[in-house]
Amino acid sequence: MSGDQLSVEQLDVLLTAAVAAPSMHNTQPWRFAVDGSTIDVHLDGSRALPAADPSRRAMRIAAGAATFNLRCAAARLGYWSWLGLALDPDDLLARVVLEAGVPDRKLRDLYPAIRRRHTSREPLYGAGMSQDTRIRLVRAALDEGATLTWLTDEQVDSLVDMFLDTDLRELGDWRRTAERTRWIGGDRTFDGIPSAALGPRAGAYRTAFRDLGTRPADRIRAQAVFEARPAIAVLSTEQDEPADHVTAGLALERVLLTATREGVAASFLNQPLEYDDLRRAVQRATGRPGHADMIIRFGHARPSVTTPRRPLAEFAYGGAS
Ligand SMILES: Cc1cc2nc3c(=O)[nH]c(=O)nc-3n(C[C@H](O)[C@H](O)[C@H](O)COP(=O)(O)O)c2cc1C
Repeated sequence: MSGDQLSVEQLDVLLTAAVAAPSMHNTQPWRFAVDGSTIDVHLDGSRALPAADPSRRAMRIAAGAATFNLRCAAARLGYWSWLGLALDPDDLLARVVLEAGVPDRKLRDLYPAIRRRHTSREPLYGAGMSQDTRIRLVRAALDEGATLTWLTDEQVDSLVDMFLDTDLRELGDWRRTAERTRWIGGDRTFDGIPSAALGPRAGAYRTAFRDLGTRPADRIRAQAVFEARPAIAVLSTEQDEPADHVTAGLALERVLLTATREGVAASFLNQPLEYDDLRRAVQRATGRPGHADMIIRFGHARPSVTTPRRPLAEFAYGGAS
């Protein structure tokens, strides 16, 4: 399938936007095949996290987020885009076809937020988010077919209990620790999370917080007091099939870019979602049916340290079939 050829400059804009998407441990587990004006988004199996993400759900979420950025960049370049989902759940996850036509204004308006969005693991400060912002984020998730549920203080408390449970489970999990040590900490040039982006450690134990550091130097980094009443929302999809994970990724990125535009930062507290029983408990805590895909902490933050990306040439290959 091919249409008008995209220029090198246009491809640069499209792929730079795509790879700016978030991915678990910054593995950047995606590849793109371009043929004419069709861009296929594939999983890159060499970037899997078998200990933390054996089902590859997190990989598909990341690929969904990259696909959303592709569509924003297409709109920025003046294209209308069509989207097909999960054509092969272990490889070809999404197909974006660019067409001459009126670009989606909402996607185009989110484009500038792509390079400003970063995960912030700092304490969040300032007054809470306005009700309007919360509603806009709920709508952003709905626009992509997912649900964002804001948790009450009581629900956040029960989530913190689950974080403690997860910490205990992870204590002797050497596979998971080894995997994290491979991807997280130290200075990083192309992928993974550098020590400087880990943020401070939590000063108190019972905190809505995730410490990804495993290396000795990261274990003794500076501490800080985190917000006592964090604003947390759970992103869920109705079903739990591979296409739903891609949908969760599309919705995640629409929510994060919408938040960025409103000056709101986000980080993730996904640790319970890596265990099936706790994942079900998180969804139950929302009081809604569905399958929890992301636990997101929102708030105002100082600018945080960014994570690197690989050169674009590593992501592009072949032609779409
Ligand atoms: C599916 C998924 C799960 C993630 N889980 C966590 C998490 O539990 N804790 C965390 O601090 N960051 C988490 N992240 C954020 C990534 O670490 C982050 O996106 C990556 O390091 C790239 O950095 P950036 O978001 O600043 O571009 C997750 C991201 C994705 C897409």
